Formats: sequence, C-alpha cells, structure tokens
Amino acid sequence: MKQASIPDFTDQCVWVIGASSGIGEACARALLKRGAKLALSSRRIERLEAIAQSADPSHSLVVPVDVIDPSSIARAYQTIKTQWGGIDLLLFVSGIYIPLRADDFNMEDAQKTVDSNILGPMRAVATVLPDMLQVGRGHLAIVGSVAGYSGLPKALAYGPTKAAMINFCETLFYDLQPKGIGVHMISPGFVATEATAKNDFEMPALISAEEAAIEILEGIGRGEFDIHFPKRFSGFLKFLRILPYPIYFWIVRKFVKI
Ligand SMILES: NC(=O)c1ccc[n+]([C@@H]2O[C@H](COP(=O)([O-])OP(=O)(O)OC[C@H]3O[C@@H](n4cnc5c(N)ncnc54)[C@H](OP(=O)(O)O)[C@@H]3O)[C@@H](O)[C@H]2O)c1
Repeated sequence: MKQASIPDFTDQCVWVIGASSGIGEACARALLKRGAKLALSSRRIERLEAIAQSADPSHSLVVPVDVIDPSSIARAYQTIKTQWGGIDLLLFVSGIYIPLRADDFNMEDAQKTVDSNILGPMRAVATVLPDMLQVGRGHLAIVGSVAGYSGLPKALAYGPTKAAMINFCETLFYDLQPKGIGVHMISPGFVATEATAKNDFEMPALISAEEAAIEILEGIGRGEFDIHFPKRFSGFLKFLRILPYPIYFWIVRKFVKI
C-alpha cells in the first residue's frame, strides 16, 4: 500500500494535538529532536510551554486547543497558518479513557468519550483537510488503539470510539491516497502513561511512551498506513479478531482477568 511518506522531519510543520503528556508529549519531544517545527496543542498550556521552552523558539508554537470545542481548533489552526503558512502533518494523539463495564454504563461518560475520541479527531481533520486537498499534499496521522479491533472488557465507550477511528482512517485512505495525501492509522497496545497509570491489572507487553513515539515516527517516515505496536501484542489481537466468536470470547475470558 504505497502512499506519501516523511523520511526526514527536518523543518516539517507538524501539529500535535494532545502534546501535553504521554504518547503525544513523547512524539513532540522526538519530533523536535529530529528538527521538525512543532505546533503544540492541548488544554494544559503550562505543560506545552515547558516542552516549547526545550526547543529553538523558531521551531515551536503553543496553540491551546480543547478538542470538544470546534472554535478553539479553528482559532489554533488560523494561528498556525498565520505563523507558518500551513502544516505538513496533523498528528492527532488526544484521547480519553474512562473504564466502563455494563454494570456502570452511563451516558455522561459515553458522550464525553465520543465527543473527545470521535468528534475531536473529525473536527481537526475537517479543519486542515481543505488546505491539504487544495495543495495536493500533507499527512493525517490519528492515534486510535488496538482496543478498536474487537470488544474488550472495561472499554464499553472507549472501544467503540477507537473502532470508529479505524473505519474513519480506512475511509480517508480510499479518498486521499490517490490525491497524494498520507493517512496513518496508529494503533498502540499498552503504553505507560498517565492514562494507564490507573489500571489495576498487569498490562501485557507494556512499552514506554518514548518507544511508542519511535514506532509512530518511523511508521510515518516509511509512509505506513497501518502503524501498530508492539507487534507481539497488536499482532496477537489482529489474529484474535479473525477467529470465530465462541473461540474469541473463550480466549479473552481466559486471559483477561478483569
Ligand atoms: N496509553 C496507552 O496504553 C494507549 C493505548 C492505546 C491507545 N492510546 C491512545 O493514545 C492517545 C494518548 O494517550 P496517552 O496514554 O498518552 O494519555 P495521556 O497521557 O492521558 O494523554 C492524553 C492527551 O490528550 C489530551 N487531551 C485529552 N482531552 C483533551 C481535550 N478535550 N482537548 C485537548 N486535548 C485533550 C491531554 O491533554 P490536556 O489534558 O492537556 O488537554 C493529553 O495531552 C489517546 O488517544 C489514547 O486513547 C493509549
């Protein structure tokens, strides 16, 4: 599946949404090391500023965004365009995880998760895509999760939002690959971040946020559509989803003790 790649990030303008912690922060710091120009977005501005201060001022821009507020995304993009003329890559990392099972399912948490994890990335893509289509180049990279592959315990709202992102990226790929715009669907397994620090179970094949960032940047560098890692875990989950349901549910019940 050949598509546009970014073999060298030097002076590439990258907008990282969700840059203040975890995987997004690790990607931001790695991108700065590779010479990219970075627009850093999320709600916690002081954390974004701390990252920006570690870089050459001409290579970083702090643009606050709340992904559930469409006007904040539009304002941020306008600032980036005014400063840099546009972006080469949108790296959408932002996301929330609220553990939910059937016995505590509620619409407040479900709605919050859908708004952040589905509508958030859709809003960002809708904001930058017209310019990318006009110039016939650019990259969209969206962090989903292996939790989107198939139903898993405690992910009653989170799982469906990540499944939606898989479908969203696949559908974007159909339309954008022929137009020279790269689409990168990113599906991490367990990564040690603030989000997973609250997990009360042993996370299989856990990797660090820095390792995740390397996988993501290398994958985009090679122009990959399907960037999933660590392969020993993501590959196993990919295999599980092709099994008949009775076997799938038996294996998940046997191995997932939560
Ligand atoms: N960690 C894992 O094991 C794992 C596995 C698979 C997928 N993922 C996905 O990877 C992504 C990053 O997760 P993480 O583990 O690195 O979590 P994290 O450390 O909690 O980071 C989440 C990031 O999203 C931002 N964010 C959340 N809500 C936002 C909003 N309304 N507006 C703007 N920014 C918002 C946060 O910034 P502010 O709070 O400053 O706004 C923060 O920068 C998520 O999409 C997650 O689903 C994580």
